[in-house]
Amino acid sequence: MTELARRAAAEAAALLAEDGMRLGLGTGRTMELVLRALAGRMRGGLRFTGVATSEATAARARALGIALVAAERPCDLAIDGADEIERGSLRLIKGGGGALLREKIVAEAARRFVVVAEAGKLVDRLGEFALPVEVVPFGCAVTAARIAALGGAPVLRRCEGGPVRTDNGNLILDCPGFAPIGDPFTLERRLRAVAGVVASGLFLLPVERAIIGHGDGRVEELLP
Ligand code: A5P
Repeated sequence: MTELARRAAAEAAALLAEDGMRLGLGTGRTMELVLRALAGRMRGGLRFTGVATSEATAARARALGIALVAAERPCDLAIDGADEIERGSLRLIKGGGGALLREKIVAEAARRFVVVAEAGKLVDRLGEFALPVEVVPFGCAVTAARIAALGGAPVLRRCEGGPVRTDNGNLILDCPGFAPIGDPFTLERRLRAVAGVVASGLFLLPVERAIIGHGDGRVEELLP
């Protein structure tokens, strides 16, 4: 069901690409499906360049023959998944895949930002998904203590080999303690005031629309 929902939303999102566009390519399972749908459109003649938000997306895009360019200019359209989407406001939590910093750089600079996800990602209030916060390794225990003092209850994200390192060489603190996030702007300001914090997974930028896939293959578009 989830796969069908993701695929339906991904295919609808890929239809937004137009000839000559510079596309911001987000990260995650849903974006893998968007990349495949974009590759299908390329076979039909569509021409575009992509800006990858992670090494994983870059590798997948290259394997599909998508031409990549550096993130040095704003994208015409950035498409990305999300871990949570707040109904109404379309504020997001992202970073479940650890690519939040590059995703945020690309999305903030883009002329248009569209989020694509299955309906299960919609929430009334952000925060049930533990908020990812990317921090520099230097002094990370001190940074974590400061985030704990804000109520975040940070947990260092680990994989089998030890702490997860982002594409930028940083660490991720997952913060379940902020739930429910009633005032995301204040939380974002407080987190950004902590010197070791590079980026939080709160995406409070304007979202043009959310393309939401349902388990029966239906797609709905939500506007903020
Ligand atoms: C990557 O860091 C995340 O922001 C992803 O965009 C988010 O986790 C959605 O991923 P899925 O499409 O895999 O659920």
